[in-house]
Amino acid sequence: QWSAEEKQLITSIWGKVKVEECGGEALARLLIVYPWTQRFFSNFGNLSSPTAITGNPKVRAHGKKVLTSFGDAVKNLDNVKGTFAKLSELHCDKLHVDPENFRLLGDILIIILAAHFARDFTPACHAAWQKLVGVVAHALTRKYH
Ligand code: HEM
Repeated sequence: QWSAEEKQLITSIWGKVKVEECGGEALARLLIVYPWTQRFFSNFGNLSSPTAITGNPKVRAHGKKVLTSFGDAVKNLDNVKGTFAKLSELHCDKLHVDPENFRLLGDILIIILAAHFARDFTPACHAAWQKLVGVVAHALTRKYH
């Protein structure tokens, strides 16, 4: 559960996040740093080099979609599991995404936020966000069995 301070730290950063820019960056980094994740996006076209990945419009568009969806967690901090129940089914039953990848994407997101909001991304803020990406990863993993 969340303290008032954690909620405030999360929403204050979230209010400044540009989902298109940060979402595209996060997904691109995932695909570059952990190339096995490319397997899930074989229909996205050219992913043959870091430049190709960063410049791929489908990567950007999907990154925006993912981070926008992440925002639903921010808006529903007290019910992240319920919020992501359907998405958990999708990633588990249909897409068969290894849950470890949710963790990797969460860690990348934190790196991006820290880089973008250096001064505001205090240790307390980092801790609150680390907790959030863990809760989101757990919620998405829920339908796995
Ligand atoms: C699709 C959210 C992590 C693979 C989606 C969609 C959303 C979403 C909203 C679109 C669902 C729809 O069209 O109805 C998230 C969130 C994540 C996450 C919030 C974690 C914070 C991942 C990871 C992978 C992944 C780590 C794989 C490495 C996919 C794939 C699709 C998808 C393959 C379908 C893409 C397509 O349209 O072809 N995800 N996702 N997701 N996600 Fe995720």
